[in-house]
Amino acid sequence: MDALRIAHYIQRMLNIVAIEAEDLIVVRGDKLVIPGLTTAIPTGSVTGLLGPSGCGKTTLIRAIVGIQIIKSGRVTVLGSPAGTVTTRRKVGYVTQSSSVYPDLTVNQNLQYFAALAGQDAAAITEAIANVGMKADTRSLTGNLSGGQRTRVSLAASLLADPDVYLLDEPTVGLDPMLRRDLWKLFAGLAADGKTLLVSSHVMDEAGRCDRVLLMRGGKLVADATPDGLRSQSGEDDLERAFLVLAEREVA
Ligand SMILES: Nc1ncnc2c1ncn2[C@@H]1O[C@H](COP(=O)(O)OP(=O)(O)OP(=O)(O)O)[C@@H](O)[C@H]1O
Ligand SMILES: [Mg+2]
Repeated sequence: MDALRIAHYIQRMLNIVAIEAEDLIVVRGDKLVIPGLTTAIPTGSVTGLLGPSGCGKTTLIRAIVGIQIIKSGRVTVLGSPAGTVTTRRKVGYVTQSSSVYPDLTVNQNLQYFAALAGQDAAAITEAIANVGMKADTRSLTGNLSGGQRTRVSLAASLLADPDVYLLDEPTVGLDPMLRRDLWKLFAGLAADGKTLLVSSHVMDEAGRCDRVLLMRGGKLVADATPDGLRSQSGEDDLERAFLVLAEREVA
């Protein structure tokens, strides 16, 4: 058993692991997208899933949601296999492309998702404020920009109040102030005991996470805190740290 597996075993024993993947192998089409991945994501934390386009971030998230056929391995969410009925109710998945109704206004979409979650109008107002959307709520969702639509999806997931948030590139196309506010929101949710896995291909977002999974070619090249990445690579800048660790993996 290597050091990483011993660390995961201890986390599991202490019941502080929310998401666990063990020897996960995923093939899509004729491509081996994830050739064997093991990780454990702690409860009550923000974990960044970072890596270049096509490295397998969405595939890994889909495997955690339980909607991705896997070749072998094991994925567990809150102690149950990924995708079981009980697990799905506790997981909020914000997809990379918008998952709200384009032919409804923002308000109508959120009223619909609030009704599904048994939430009231005050919860809708709070969710809208949390994603910074106040002015646009009477617009047709299909007429919004990609970044605005993502925020509507994010507000819908907040209304469901899941224990685990799987957010696939939620900050793409957003201005720096809004990105900062959303990362604050994520930190606040984690402080309330929620577990967040947030994907991004922007390395400067790694610094805002409690832990970072650096992915390349379907493999994890690092699984550490931002400071851990810095010390493992000897680089202060996280983008350079990624390059050093990725090149080391290739070597
Ligand atoms: N349905 C599919 N059939 C075959 N290959 C696929 C399929 N979907 C994705 N892939 C391949 O799997 C790999 C990983 O894709 P994935 O969408 O998980 O990457 P990603 O890291 O989320 O990328 P991005 O940052 O662009 O969203 C890519 O090489 C992609 O071409
Ligand atoms: Mg993706």
